[in-house]
Amino acid sequence: MSALLLDRLRSAGGWLARDRAAAALARQSKSLEQAVAELRARGYVIDEDPDMGLRLQAEPDVLCPADLRRGLQTRIVGREILVRDRVTSTNDVAWQLGEEGAEEGTVVFAEEQTAGRGRLGRCWWSPHGKGIWMSVLLRPVVGEELVPMTTIIGALAAAEAIRAATRLPARIRWPNDVLIEEKKVAGVLVEARQTGGGRGLVLGIGVDVNADDADMPPDVAPVAVSLSQAAGERIHRLHLAQELLRRLDRWYQVELERDADTINERWRSLSATLGRRIVLDEQGRRYEGTVADVDVRFGLALRLSRGNVRTFRGEHVTVIEHG
Ligand code: BTN
Repeated sequence: MSALLLDRLRSAGGWLARDRAAAALARQSKSLEQAVAELRARGYVIDEDPDMGLRLQAEPDVLCPADLRRGLQTRIVGREILVRDRVTSTNDVAWQLGEEGAEEGTVVFAEEQTAGRGRLGRCWWSPHGKGIWMSVLLRPVVGEELVPMTTIIGALAAAEAIRAATRLPARIRWPNDVLIEEKKVAGVLVEARQTGGGRGLVLGIGVDVNADDADMPPDVAPVAVSLSQAAGERIHRLHLAQELLRRLDRWYQVELERDADTINERWRSLSATLGRRIVLDEQGRRYEGTVADVDVRFGLALRLSRGNVRTFRGEHVTVIEHG
């Protein structure tokens, strides 16, 4: 398996002498030349120097379960990791796995979704290889009532993972859109259902990683941004995907401990909405005002133009404009 050579090249972090590289394959029937050729065929760029040996120059931006699992160290999220090439929606696949009795924490990534779903019945555009489109199957003891909180921990995990992997200043537009500056870069969709293995939740997250304007549908381009557009360089998805799984795992534990204060504090600190003038839509009616407060338990308190404060819950509301 060329995975052994790959591990050695990665941990060398620079040049690896040929004899040490060959030692990694000592118990294999494969020669060093064959292993290098295999890795190159899979998109790894490997330099060769007669004196220095071999050096891993670049890795292909392909998600694979073995790489995603390596060093992950999560408790629940990622107990099982699957990667599919093309699916309707990773939420559909997670539900299917749930029906078949998959364990809590099973995660499915796809390179492409043909019918990705967004909040409020919208479509979620998910082109091949350009994003992180993933869902995790959760089986908390209670179900439906955890949907709003699970949506919030999804947004927290996505914003934190983006910050950690790219240093971009991701923030959360109430309740759960992840923005860079004023443009949406990631979204969260949580669904609750009865499955063969009991009641469950599927937490789906989409992060727009390497799309260009030319890839985006005309209605998406003005309001969306990809991480590569914001950073000015291509972003490798593996590190970001692992950060996402780790942070989801951490925030899910906090949610299971019913520690709403800790979640609230972090969510408020990443809020792009608190204190802003906004326009929001609640089932077709528009409201304009200044956001007096956001709280994971009580909702968004909007000070309307006449001075009175009205509170909104996140499930049926969209923030249309940040002032
Ligand atoms: C939104 O902001 O409207 C929510 C978008 C959620 C998109 C993700 S992509 C992975 C998962 N599968 C889906 O069909 N939707 C979610």
